[in-house]
Amino acid sequence: MNLFFENSTRTRTSFEVAAKRLGADVINMDVATSSVRKGETLLDTAMTLNAMRPDAIVVRHHESGAVNLLSQKVNCAVINAGDGQHEHPTQALLDALTIRRRRGSLEGLLVAICGDIMHSRVARSNIHLLQIMGARVRVVGPPTLMPTDVEKMGVEVHYNMKSGLKDVDIVMMLRLQTERMQGSFVPSISEYFHFFGLDRAKLQYAKPDALIMHPGPMNRGVEIDSEVADDLDRSVIHEQVEMGVTVRMACLDALIGGQRNQFGNLA
Ligand code: CP
Repeated sequence: MNLFFENSTRTRTSFEVAAKRLGADVINMDVATSSVRKGETLLDTAMTLNAMRPDAIVVRHHESGAVNLLSQKVNCAVINAGDGQHEHPTQALLDALTIRRRRGSLEGLLVAICGDIMHSRVARSNIHLLQIMGARVRVVGPPTLMPTDVEKMGVEVHYNMKSGLKDVDIVMMLRLQTERMQGSFVPSISEYFHFFGLDRAKLQYAKPDALIMHPGPMNRGVEIDSEVADDLDRSVIHEQVEMGVTVRMACLDALIGGQRNQFGNLA
């Protein structure tokens, strides 16, 4: 069951494709037309779905920690499809797989995660996983978009693209997550793009063969210029989406793939 309280194109669709490719039935609960709109709580909604005996519930929620809380109330597998600004673990897994396919290994690579680090669950999950896989991580962005004490996560912090992208193997761009902002964090979009938007000129600071990544959705002309986003030699953005299906199939199989009947289908 897909239970998405926030908008999604890639994650929701790829979880559905992944599950169907494994032979599962998929229910996409439409939160907008559900009894959530009548005041039912997250936990009551989860326990209601759990009573229908799903094998797994895939959850996206705007509150950090909501998915963990929900997982304690149900007795099926629960997968975090993004909770607030906390974590987006399958995004980090698909990013790592994309890099590994292109570079063979993540060991020793230098990765710059650039932009709105403060509001980004993608950044947090990637910082954890990339370091586990042996990569070094830099975060690059304006001070207003840097979490307090971010260096305690083991990353190098840079406040300009010139030093932040110097000699990096991977440039991972992030969207300004305005849906999680209260107030203004940048003076203007045009100024933000001027200083932190990835374009051909700023890409020159990175290694000549550095890969360009973006979890999507992209805001062209805000954090990334179309010329580099669509550069087929350097941009792996569509490969990230493709690996999203692969990784989510693997996650579902690891969590519930053992529960098969004699026909090889999920029991
Ligand atoms: N990367 C990502 O989570 O995209 P969606 O919001 O479209 O799922």
